[in-house]
This record gives sequence, structure tokens and C-alpha cells, in this order.
Amino acid sequence: MESYTIESNKKKSRLPARLDFAQSATGLILGLFIWMHLLFDGSIIFGKKAFSFVTGMLELSFLSDTGHGFPIIVFFAVVVISILFITHALLGMRKFPNSYQQHRIMADQVIMTNHMETKLWYVQVITGFIMFFAGSVHLYTMFANPGSVDPYLSADRVVSGNMWFLYLVLLVCVVLHANIGLYRLCMKWGWFSGKDAKRSRLKLQMLRNRIIVFYLVIGVLGILAFTIVGMGHRDKVGERYLGQTTSLEMPQGLVQTRYIEDSNE
Ligand code: HEM
Repeated sequence: MESYTIESNKKKSRLPARLDFAQSATGLILGLFIWMHLLFDGSIIFGKKAFSFVTGMLELSFLSDTGHGFPIIVFFAVVVISILFITHALLGMRKFPNSYQQHRIMADQVIMTNHMETKLWYVQVITGFIMFFAGSVHLYTMFANPGSVDPYLSADRVVSGNMWFLYLVLLVCVVLHANIGLYRLCMKWGWFSGKDAKRSRLKLQMLRNRIIVFYLVIGVLGILAFTIVGMGHRDKVGERYLGQTTSLEMPQGLVQTRYIEDSNE
């Protein structure tokens, strides 16, 4: 009775709601980042030149005298994404089953209720757990080598650095986790919900499934493309794609530095 009185006199904490909001906000930014990341990364499907163009744009190579861009941008991007990634993971851990017994109860519930949303929640727990390791390895690699985003160096990492398997696992986990997460955010905060709630939910579910398939396809094709490039570059590991530069006389008499693409492009 005494403990009941103490509990009921306690001021309700807003902390859980704030933590929930922070988890949604970091999840939203990371989810949108992953959408863009996999699209940019997928440019390798269209060849080395396309990937080089995209990375050049992201590193603002058009603003640098050498044409090499500013890898420091990648470095800062990795730092920001890593902070969001770690914060999001720590906030997510609050909801993980934290003992074998809890895990068993949860697993039994999933089987017993056969309820899609509960199953999806469990998919989030498992993919989030795997990403904690796989995502950290990838982020650290990019953190330690910010100047190595290049068609050949990236492909070398995938093939000669044996990263292909980690990328494959990470791809499946991140595509499921990000898109299920974005769908759950829409449901939780009522975004895109029309007058007919059931219809809106079905539409969102269909959109989510299509986006998952889309990103899995471009992700797998991307890894395949990197693998093909990396296999052909096995004897020149560490050499960059942009090897040769030349000065071209422009009609107005201006001199522009331009990279010559490989003859086999
Ligand atoms: C700013 C931070 C990041 C940078 C600069 C970055 C950069 C890259 C680059 C350059 C590649 C091509 C392969 C390579 O060069 O090794 C790649 C592949 C990949 N990244 Fe990231 N990444 C970042 C964050 C993340 C995060 C947070 C995730 C998910 C947790 C992620 C998931 C992936 C996956 C799944 C692939 C393989 C995709 C494919 O080729 O189909 N990345 N990343």
C-alpha cells in the first residue's frame, strides 16, 4: 500500500516519450540516408564512369583545382552518420529482449499470434542486432579511408578485401530494417493516413514491399558490378580509377583539367 502511494505521487516522467521521439528522428534521417546511399552506390551498375561522376559530385570535385575533390566531406559524413547510427542503436536496445527467457516469451508470442506487425517488430530486432556489428565494420572502414571512394578502390575492397559477404549481409539487413522502420514511423505518427485507415495501411504496406524489392535488386546488382570490376583489377589492387589527367584548351582560351577515362570503358 505504501509503495503504491509513493508510485502514484511520483510526477510522470517525460523521458520515455523523449527517447521514443529521438529514436524516430534518428531512424528517419538514417532511413532517408540509406535510400540515397544505395542509389548513389548503385551508379556502379552503369559503369565506372558513372560511379566516378557521382562520387566526384559528392566530394565537390568541380570546386577543387586538382579535380580530386575533398575526401574530408566523406570523413565528416561518416562521423555524423556514425553518431546517428550509435545513438539510434543505443535507443533501440531499450526494447530488445534482455534475457533468454524474454526472448523465448517474445518468440512464442510471434508464433502464437501469427500477427504480421509483431513479426515485423521481431525482424527489426534481429536485423538491428546484426547491423550493430556489420554496420560498425563498414563505417569504420570508411572512417579510416575517406579518400578511397573510387570505382577501382571500392571494387578492390569488395573483391580483394573480401568485403562482399559483409556487404551482402548488411544490404539485406539494412534494406529490411530501414524500410520496415520507415513504414512503422508512418503508422506511428499517422503520416500519409487518409480517411480510410485500413486502405491507407494496405497502400503503405504495398509501397514498403515494392521499395524493399527495388533496393534489394539494385543493391545486389551493385555488389555484382563491384565484383566484376574488382575481379578484373586483382593484379592492380590499390590503383585508382582516375589515373591520368590532361589539360584541354577551351575555345575561350581557358584551360580545364580533365580526367581521361580508361580505354576499356
Ligand atoms: C557516411 C557514411 C557512409 C559512407 C561514406 C559509405 C560509403 C560506402 C561506399 C563507398 C560503398 C561502396 C563499397 C566500398 O567502397 O567499400 C558502400 C557500400 C555499402 N554501404 Fe555504405 N557508407 C556509409 C554508411 C553506411 C551505413 C550506415 C550503412 C548501413 C548500416 C551502409 C550500408 C552499405 C551497404 C549495404 C553497401 C553495399 C551496397 C551495394 O553495393 O549494393 N553504408 N558504402
